[in-house]
Amino acid sequence: MSNVIWYEAATLDDFSEKTCKPVWIEDKAMLIVYWHEKLYAFLNNCPHENLPLTGATIEDDEIVCPHHGARFCLLNGAVMAPPAFEDLEIFPIKLEYKTIYIGIQDEF
Ligand code: FES
Repeated sequence: MSNVIWYEAATLDDFSEKTCKPVWIEDKAMLIVYWHEKLYAFLNNCPHENLPLTGATIEDDEIVCPHHGARFCLLNGAVMAPPAFEDLEIFPIKLEYKTIYIGIQDEF
């Protein structure tokens, strides 16, 4: 059985349009993206060479890796352009008043 545990991750005041902000949730390096007034959460790890996405840019609806330019769909983490060939791991995210929470599966 698994359930989602919601972790407080950041406050909305830290974000402006196109912000990519790294945060730590327990032992996971995460990346929160704010784009067109919506929030997205990913594992902060590019699957190409397992490097952090910190410093990534947002172009159209895609995250562009700062290292070698792989592109990923902001909506679902799907890889859109090489050199990466695997998707980004995406996590549920929610906003309550100005507090941002990331949901992580807890497996028992
Ligand atoms: S580490 Fe991201 S494209 Fe190479």
